[in-house]
Amino acid sequence: MAIILAIESSCDETSAAICIDGEIKSNIIASQAIHAKYGGVVPELASRAHQLHIIPTVDEAIQQAKIHKNDVEAVAFTRGPGLLGALLVGTSFAKSFALARQIPLIEVNHMQAHILAHFIEDPKPSFPFLCLTVSGGHTQIVLVKDYFDMELLGQTLDDAAGEAFDKTAKILHLPYPGGPLIDKYAQEGDPKAYTLPEPQIPELNFSFSGLKTAILYLVQAEEKKNPDFLKEHMADICASVQQRIVSILLNKLQKAAKQTGVRNVAIAGGVSANSGLRQGLLTMGSQYGWNVFIPKFEYCTDNAAMIAIAGYHKYLRKEFVGQDVAPLARMHM
Ligand code: KG4
Ligand code: ZN
Repeated sequence: MAIILAIESSCDETSAAICIDGEIKSNIIASQAIHAKYGGVVPELASRAHQLHIIPTVDEAIQQAKIHKNDVEAVAFTRGPGLLGALLVGTSFAKSFALARQIPLIEVNHMQAHILAHFIEDPKPSFPFLCLTVSGGHTQIVLVKDYFDMELLGQTLDDAAGEAFDKTAKILHLPYPGGPLIDKYAQEGDPKAYTLPEPQIPELNFSFSGLKTAILYLVQAEEKKNPDFLKEHMADICASVQQRIVSILLNKLQKAAKQTGVRNVAIAGGVSANSGLRQGLLTMGSQYGWNVFIPKFEYCTDNAAMIAIAGYHKYLRKEFVGQDVAPLARMHM
């Protein structure tokens, strides 16, 4: 039996999960509400909140899995990429836990884990598959050849897709994180109400910074004519922004599928919770005959279950790290 405790602390969610022989038994997530009033994650506050949450979160994960902490056989943790201070809390906890029990320590790359979340439950994609990983910090198209053999085909040159949602939300005076709220308003709006530019970026790369500026100018111009513009047209703006972000993402994904000939296509990361992206991928998938893989909502945004499943596959390969391991704010795939 392989009983693995997994820890995630790369950004603003403290999460712990227990995985037994590749099956997730618990996945506890403590979110940090403190950042909402600042309109974004404040790194120092995130580190302090992780320190407060980590022990109760791990305790709850162990209890819910109905095991004892001494049953744990290995500890997997997010080494990076992420906020260094936040990563330090999870890394230090994982190292101490493993040292005290003399059990192996497994480092996990957060971006790989978002992709490997597809191996938590059926249907699981077969290799190779393409994955569009879209989160608050990253936007990547990855060719996944095997569990830990991933090739980055394209990425954002400036803002991430999640950042585009969150920064737009800020312009619209919506609280952080704005992605889910834009998604909610968009469901009642007309995506054709406002025309927003599609950036012409070469290859399989992305750019979202121009979109943010276009929205800012649009809102400023409209508010000059009508001070209640935002209140009256929130749903239409959200629907237009969302449909543009989704079309930028899906057009590149389609280009990647054409270039590689790969027909297994997945999405991952926080923005893969977006209803427009999920629906758009399903439509595109049936148009091009792809096998489409969309994660369950709870495995889209940051969670330790994805760290656990990545950790389990490293455990099977006996890929362990020593006590000298340190977190990495930047970490390549
Ligand atoms: O993967 P994640 O939880 O954290 C990072 O690793 O960054 O992604 C968080 C991002 C945020 O930008 C949030 O606004 C976005 O995912 N997000 C969404 C939705 N749910 C979360 N964006 C659009 N629509 C959603 N439903
Ligand atoms: Zn993430």
